[in-house]
This record gives sequence, structure tokens and C-alpha cells, in this order.
Amino acid sequence: MNKASASIKACVFDAYGTLFDVNAAARALSQELGDEWLPLAETWRTKQLNYSWLRSLMGAHADFWQLTGDALDFALESRGLSTPSLRQRLLDLYYNLACFPEVPEVLRQLRKAGFKTAILSNGTPAMLEAACRSSEILDLFDHVISVEEVGIYKPDPRVYSLVASRFSLAPNEIAFHSSNGWDIHGGKRAGFFAIWVNRSGQPLERLPHPPDRILQDLTAVPSILETA
Ligand code: LAC
Repeated sequence: MNKASASIKACVFDAYGTLFDVNAAARALSQELGDEWLPLAETWRTKQLNYSWLRSLMGAHADFWQLTGDALDFALESRGLSTPSLRQRLLDLYYNLACFPEVPEVLRQLRKAGFKTAILSNGTPAMLEAACRSSEILDLFDHVISVEEVGIYKPDPRVYSLVASRFSLAPNEIAFHSSNGWDIHGGKRAGFFAIWVNRSGQPLERLPHPPDRILQDLTAVPSILETA
């Protein structure tokens, strides 16, 4: 086992998929959408991430709220579901996503143990604040850091370097948590202690810089970081 916590001072979390359940918006309309809700949610998420990478490569940045709407338009059209009312309700639900059940208690335990906490996300500052408020976890973070500060998306190294400078810490004093495999490889490359929260049981990404730990959810994080 790698030594995790001796030098770790801050715990940083990806937002969408890691703290907040990105499928929850379409799932909330599952009675209306029937079997379509999951393919719709999956296409929406896949396109949202594809657009983040493509716009980064194209040098054509637009913020994550714009991409979320664009990706939803693609997903709705591809499933034959385009209506203005459904679009608006799904976007409203996405803006106020709930967090996964273990998140508040894990954050409280980490803060009680003396760790600093932050979010590092593609989301805009307004999106992140809204989701944190609806989940009642905003006061459990020292910093909520958005890629908007550098105008490019993860996994660009400039995004991860925002964290060390915000905390005035070395990268190896920071534990980074993400449910997105590609994101955890980006964080490991930046020098973080990298914990992949593999909520959906995905295979390891075939990318350089694999994670230090793999968990199913965040529950074990305080014991891993406190007892190394
Ligand atoms: C984020 C995306 C990757 O929150 O889910 O940064």
C-alpha cells in the first residue's frame, strides 16, 4: 500500500459524477420518459464531455452551462424527444442536482480530521454554487474552483495546477477524487494522490498515470487518508 496521508493536507473533488449524480435529472422524469430516460442521460453526458474535449482542442471555449445545453439538444434530438418544455425542465433539474448520499458525512469527517476541502470542476461558478446549495454542502468547502479561471477543460494540466496555487501546497500534499477515469489520470499526472471513485464499475482507462487507489464510492476516503 502506498502511504497516503502523512503529507496530505487538502482533499479535492471533481463535481459532476463524483459529488453530484449526473443521471438524477433524467431519472427524475423517468415516469414521463419511460425506458428512454437512461439512454437520454447517457447520450447527454457523453456529448457534454465530448464537447468539452473538442472545444478545448479547437481553441473554441464556451462555458459548461452552454455545453450542457448543447449536449442536451443533441441528446433530445437523437432520441426524438425535442420539446422546449422538456429541455427546460431537464436543465432546471441539472442546475440543482443532488449529491450522492455519502457525500455530506464524508466531507464533515475530513474537515473534522483537519483536511482542507475543495471542488475542482468543469462547471461554471454559478452551476457549482447552485448544486452545492441544493445539496446543502457549500459550507463544507474551503474553495470551489472552476475551469473558467483558465478557460480550458480537464484534463488540460492548467486546470489541475489551479489547486496547488489556491492552497499554496505542493501537488503531493493534495488528494484528488474523481469518478471520471480520464480525470483521475489527469490528476495523477499533475502529481496528486489520486483516488478513482469508480461508481459505475468501469475498467481501468488505458491511459498513462493510473490512480493510487480505486474505490466504489467516497465512504472509505476519511479512513484511507487519516490512517496511512
Ligand atoms: C467535472 C466534470 C468532469 O465536474 O464532471 O469537472
